[in-house]
Amino acid sequence: MTDIATEQATAAASGAAATEQFRTKQRADATDVDTRRVDTLVSELLVATHEIVRRHKVTYAEYDALKAWLIRIGEDGEWPLFLDVWVEHVVEEVAGESREGSKGTIEGPYYAPGAPALDAEATLPMRTDEKGTPLLFQGRVTGVDGTPLPGATVDIWQADDDGYYSQFAPGLPEWNLRGTVTADDEGRFRIRTIEPAPYQIPTDGSCGRLIAAAGWHAWRPAHLHLKVSAPGHRLVTTQLYFEGGSHVADDIASAVKPELILAPGPAADGRGHEVTYDFVLDSTDKLDRA
Ligand code: DHB
Ligand code: FE
Repeated sequence: MTDIATEQATAAASGAAATEQFRTKQRADATDVDTRRVDTLVSELLVATHEIVRRHKVTYAEYDALKAWLIRIGEDGEWPLFLDVWVEHVVEEVAGESREGSKGTIEGPYYAPGAPALDAEATLPMRTDEKGTPLLFQGRVTGVDGTPLPGATVDIWQADDDGYYSQFAPGLPEWNLRGTVTADDEGRFRIRTIEPAPYQIPTDGSCGRLIAAAGWHAWRPAHLHLKVSAPGHRLVTTQLYFEGGSHVADDIASAVKPELILAPGPAADGRGHEVTYDFVLDSTDKLDRA
């Protein structure tokens, strides 16, 4: 991973880290995808582009601006950010169509596998002076039929109170606000953390220039990221949002779903908030038969 500890929180630095992270998990290469699929998908993408050029009478100045921007987005390492913000939500929508259990949503560019293993009753790794409202996030993992899934895994990652992710912004401990929690014998977990802040996608790089040029905003609502899994069950990658939070209704990444909005109340111990959210995992049986 790029040594960003000494660098600024720039688009180029988080872009480089996100690109590096993607390369380590990459699922497929263009040469692994069926020739007819590549032909169909790329041909239709090009035809759609040609139609836009004709319909809007795109000029050479606009064509050159696009070309310059595409060159820059590669140089900035911002392809993971661009794709995860503006394209991934539809790929996830299609992938999630066959799911009966908990809703998923986009993974985004900032997952890092191998977070510290934590017990069912856990506090996420954080700085001694970690800013933010304490949050007790608890719940249960079951199958679609309601059977608890003992030993289910809740892999959680989130931004801090300034909207920064460890390993992708400078100056944060490596696993800050990241953990892999194993549920107890009844599928229950109780995770102490802090509420994340809304997150602004880096504004100083190519994605930022596009947002400024189009007159959009750069915000994602505050969110917890999760990957929940159990043996014999389909892993769900999801995010949870906070009712009434800014940009829940106009997430730049279009990743909010009504089922994913938490409404935390005051914590029983008087420290911050608490909320319960149960996960329902689809069995892999249906996939095996498909
Ligand atoms: C991006 C960041 C996120 O935290 C996220 O969940 C999705 C996308 C991004 O910067 O592209
Ligand atoms: Fe995120």
